[in-house]
Order: sequence, then structure tokens, then C-alpha cells
Amino acid sequence: MIEQYLTRDGNFLLFHACCSILVITPIMKKDPTLFPEDFIWGASTSAYQIEGAHDAQGKGASIWDLFVQRENRIWRGQNGRVACDHYYRFKEDVAQMRLMGLKAYRFSLSWARILPDGTGTINEAGLAYYDALINELLENNIEPWVTLFHWDLPYELFLRGGWLNRSSPEWFSEYTKVVVSRFSDRVERWVTINEPQCFIGLGYRDGTHAPGLNLSFGECLMAGHNALLAHGRSVQVIRENAKRTPMIGWSPSGSVYRPGSNRLDDISAAREATSAIYSDNVWNTRWWSDPAILGHYPEDGLKVYEKALPKFPATDFEIIQQPLDYYCCNIFQATPVRMSDEGTPVAIPLSDGEDISLYEWSQNPDCLYWGPRFIHELYDLPIVITENGCSTSDRVSLDGAVHDSNRTDFMVGHLLSLRKAMDDGVDVRGYFHWSLLDNFEWHEGYKHRYGLIHVNYENQVRTWKDSAYCLQEIISSNGNSLKEFLHSDSEPVPYVVKEAKRYIDLNLSETFNVKTIAVHLNCHPDFLSRRFKQYVGTSLSDYIRRLRLEFARNLLRNADVQIGEAADRAGFSDRIHFSKVFRKEMGMTPSQYQQQFRVVEGQPVVEVSKNPRLT
Ligand code: NOJ
Repeated sequence: MIEQYLTRDGNFLLFHACCSILVITPIMKKDPTLFPEDFIWGASTSAYQIEGAHDAQGKGASIWDLFVQRENRIWRGQNGRVACDHYYRFKEDVAQMRLMGLKAYRFSLSWARILPDGTGTINEAGLAYYDALINELLENNIEPWVTLFHWDLPYELFLRGGWLNRSSPEWFSEYTKVVVSRFSDRVERWVTINEPQCFIGLGYRDGTHAPGLNLSFGECLMAGHNALLAHGRSVQVIRENAKRTPMIGWSPSGSVYRPGSNRLDDISAAREATSAIYSDNVWNTRWWSDPAILGHYPEDGLKVYEKALPKFPATDFEIIQQPLDYYCCNIFQATPVRMSDEGTPVAIPLSDGEDISLYEWSQNPDCLYWGPRFIHELYDLPIVITENGCSTSDRVSLDGAVHDSNRTDFMVGHLLSLRKAMDDGVDVRGYFHWSLLDNFEWHEGYKHRYGLIHVNYENQVRTWKDSAYCLQEIISSNGNSLKEFLHSDSEPVPYVVKEAKRYIDLNLSETFNVKTIAVHLNCHPDFLSRRFKQYVGTSLSDYIRRLRLEFARNLLRNADVQIGEAADRAGFSDRIHFSKVFRKEMGMTPSQYQQQFRVVEGQPVVEVSKNPRLT
């Protein structure tokens, strides 16, 4: 039995009473902007992008420390030697986080700060630095979310072959053990590796990121496989050694697509593109996430990559596949697609004047609806948005403020999309904005500003941008302040409800039921029925039946239409069933109805309104 009750504050509670066990699940009230009470509001950074102190207190060099020294690799020859000087200013930065109301802060550890050579000797000063940062966060009621690897591989390990070396997963597990033994008395949230697509695709294939290699595709797949093994080993090591029960995720790049329109075939095209592996590049989701979550490379990927693919022992997948507590999505944009006449997804070029970031990425907020939705459909894990943000070239205005209206609009639009996805059944636990501070944007140097807080790199002065104040309000009102950005008070109808109605309109003459529509919309029939009832007031099956009857009634008013034909055209499976349903609903048989209500020479024989059931 499932019953729904309204609580005093207007929230719905679902009571599942089953075999005398009573489970109470709070579900969100129909408010389009409110987030769950325990929603995780955070911001993200990474070590090389903000810390600076590149050789302080025994830190070893990372591949990025060396890469930035090469000519013509980084915009204007810039580097992260000082960056935001966060290493020395972390207390000040944590104070800003607290003021902003952040509940969580995601940062990465510099592997070479802790193990200067990558393995072996431990640098106590490095551990002490992160100890102090973690303690400072906790004292300010901000939960630390630790990413173990955000691209800055120790240079010594690169000299030993880096990710191409089959020992790299063991190096990573040694490092994980050091870190977990030290911090897991206070840290519960762990993210293993960040965006393998990037550090392999850009670092090993294109050479635009450290270590700047242009390897064969097969070698890249080998390096990627070792990174996957490292992820798996790391999860094992965390679970074996953590002092507090850990919650573990990983954060691959969000290679997601969105439909160019709300047509069901364009939605199918976006879903297909999001799970596709097209050619010899690493920019996709499933090559990386299938092994980590499902325990094998995807069949279609194995075919597409066949020629380049090295051989891997089958037992590797027992290591790579580890239970995860959530899927961390880094989503900044999604390419719009439509379904071609040949039934394949094709990219839609951005229109003239379309809103784009400094990277020329689309700013369309739909990516934070469809991305989490498709990923949730693929892997059925709770989702945390660990990165979402936009790059602009903000500056401090003459009035002393930073008016980054682009970022504010971006953030608000994306949060509303995310909230809509939650309304439509996607289990989203948190949102981390990228980034807390302006920072070193890899090969683009300091050209791009991603921060909620502006950093003056000459004097390290921090200035809150307008978007930071906006996020502060969103967090303190738990989403309520987003209302001021909605253009009407009317509650947006959930996507599944809208699309179910559209499906019914388009297919009324076909035989279908609630299950058919649910399959079409890729959601569970119970979820669809519940949502529909909640918003429309009648059950979905009643709604379909009524529409069919109404359509049949209209047909029957034409004296030339046979009963069987009306049944058929209104989507009833057979005439007997049609007559039964008709009689039950209308109090007369279809032929009696036709007799009484048929239209003769433009005039009804009897006034339709005389039948009380015809309302
Ligand atoms: C994702 C990466 O994790 C982060 O390091 C980078 O700065 C952002 N993308 C923006 O490009």
C-alpha cells in the first residue's frame, strides 16, 4: 500500500506499508525552486590551479611544474607557481566560503606535495598543510570533499612511464593509503580521479596539456586503462583503511548531449549520442564509466576501438569495478543534436549570436537537465554535480564591484534545470560551482576567469562577484531566492507529464498503455503514473481512456462511421472491449449513442448536453 499525505509545512510524505514495515520517504513538495534540506551546496577547486607554493616545504615537482616551462604551451607563458597563493591564504579563503554559506568544499591534493617522488618518502609538511586546511574547514562547518588526483602527476612518476606504466595503479594505491590513513578520521567524502578523458585526451593524445605527449591511440587506451585500474585500487584502499565510513565517487568529464527540441526523436538522438562511442577519440562517457560501474568495456566501444585496442587481462575488471556511492558529474555544456532522417543523431550548429562562454561553449542551461538525467538512466547512481561554471573575462568595475551577470544567469539557469531534473526523478545530492576563485585555467593560463570570487593576481586581493552574492542567497534560502528569476508564478509542469500528454495526442489511434509511454520516456511506469496524477489530478490510464472515448464519440456522431471503425481509430484493442468501456462510461452502447447523437445535415439529432455524462 502506498499513501501520500501532506505535512504541515506542505511537504508530501509517502508511506509504504509493506509486511508491517513502515517506510517513510519524504518527497519534495511541488515547489519549482526549493531543494531538499540536506542538499550539498559547494564550490570546487584543484591544487595546481590555486595553491601556488610550487616548491614550498619539500614539495616535489609535478608534470605541470615542468610543462609550464616549455615554450608556447601556455597562454602568454603563464604558470601556476603562485596562482591564487591559496597555500598561504587558505584561512582567508575558508572564511570567504563560510560567509558565502557553502556547506562543502571540493579540492584536490597535490600528490607531489605529499610524496615528492610519487612513492616512497613522505613529506610531513605536505600532510601538515592539508591537515590544517581540513581542520579549518571543519571548524567553519564546511565539509571537505577530497579529490585524490586532478592531473598533477608527480614528475618522478612521469619519468618512470607515468600512466603508461602498469605499476601506476600501485603507485596510486600507495599514495591513497598515505592520505586515507592521515585524513580519514575527519574526511568522509572522497573523489578518486578527475576527468580521465582530459588528462589522457589532452595530455597524452593532443599534447595541449601536461605532459604534452602525442601518443598513438592504442597507447592512450593503455594509459587510460591503467588510470581506471588506479581508480579501482584506490576505492579498495579507501574502503579498507578509512577510519570513518567513506562515501566515494569519481568525476569523469561530462560528455553529454542535449536535444535541439522537445520532439521525442530529438530526445532519443541526445540520449543515443550521450551513450555513443563514435571514433578514435576518448571524448565519451561510456568507455570510462562502464568499466568503473558495470565492470566491462562497452561492446560498441570495443568494436570502434578494435584496431588500436591493447589486450587486457579479464581479471582487471574485478579491480576496476568497485561499488561507488555517487556519480560525480562535471558538466559545463552539452552539444545540441537532432535525429536525422536516417535515424542517427546529428549535431546542430550553434545559432548566430548564441550565448557562449570565453571558451565558446554553449551556455544553454538544458545541459544540467539532460546530462544528469541521461547519466542517471545509464548508471542508476545518486548524482553530485562536482563542477559546473562558465568562463568569462570579469573585471572589477569603477564602483569596486564585479558585475558578472553572465555567470549569475548561467548559474541560476543551470540550477533551475537541475531542480527540474530532480522533479522528474533524477536523484541529485549536491551542486559544486566551478570555481570558488578565479584560477590557472591550464593551457589557457589566467585568460579565463571561472571564480565566484575575483582574484587580482598582482596583489592577491579577493573581490566577491555579483554571482557570489547570488549564490549566497540561493544557499541561505535553499533555492527559494531562485523564484525571483522565474517569469511566472505558475509551476512548471514536469517534463514527463508534458511529454506523456504529447505522446497521447500524437498516437491516440494506436494501441498503447501507461507502460508503453513509460518505456518511451525511459522512466518507471509507477513514477510516471504518480507524477501524472499529482499534476493532472486524474490517473494516466483514466486520462487515456477518457481521451479515446471522447475521440470515439466525435467519430460516432458521423452516421457513416461504423462502430468497429470508431473503436479502431480511437485506439481500442477490439470492438467488444470498446463497447463495454463505452457503456460503462456513457450509460449507453455505442450504437445507441450514434442513434441519438448523430449529426444529420449539420444539426445534431438530439442536443448533446441532454446527456448528463457528456461533460
Ligand atoms: C574541468 C576541470 O576539472 C577543471 O580543472 C577546469 O578548470 C574546468 N573543467 C574548466 O575548464
